[in-house]
Amino acid sequence: MTPKKMAKIHAAAKPNHRIWNAQEFANLLSSPGVVAECHPNGFALARIIHTDAELLLLVTEQIKQNTGIATGCLLKMEKHLMKLGAREITLEVSESNGAAINLYKKLNYKKIFIRKSYSRDKNGNLENALLMQKELIPLY
Ligand SMILES: CC(C)(COP(=O)(O)OP(=O)(O)OC[C@H]1O[C@@H](n2cnc3c(N)ncnc32)[C@H](O)[C@@H]1OP(=O)(O)O)[C@@H](O)C(=O)NCCC(=O)NCCS
Repeated sequence: MTPKKMAKIHAAAKPNHRIWNAQEFANLLSSPGVVAECHPNGFALARIIHTDAELLLLVTEQIKQNTGIATGCLLKMEKHLMKLGAREITLEVSESNGAAINLYKKLNYKKIFIRKSYSRDKNGNLENALLMQKELIPLY
């Protein structure tokens, strides 16, 4: 998927955080360890360093939300990261993002920490962020 298409999907996801532009996606995609799992209406982006992975972004266009797209992208991402050697994946999500938190809980991500007044919403207001983590256990 092109950086331009990613920026378009990100905007169409109507997130409560700042929307990244095509240049930001291009920079990320050319950074070491960054991997993407894509669907025509959504994608997941993550970074792997040795055995640790971090989910950077998970988005689905609003009109296609609640149809399993993000779940599919994230599960594919977990498999991809495991093949690359990841043993755990961590992510950060705003405390007010109920949809994303539900999805992560459903996929067995556990809350490990709360970062108080850490992330900014699209209006620049600070809010708490949850740090969530999942152990990646390869199925041989
Ligand atoms: C969070 C987001 C990625 C979910 O994408 P999605 O493709 O709709 O997710 P799925 O269809 O795979 O949903 C899986 C689970 O997520 C939860 N979920 C999704 N949308 C929800 C909503 N509106 N309200 C409550 N729970 C929701 C549910 O637990 C759902 O499982 P269920 O269908 O069995 O109830 C999407 O809402 C989005 O793009 N939001 C804006 C960007 C964002 O905030 N990303 C996350 C932080 S980077």
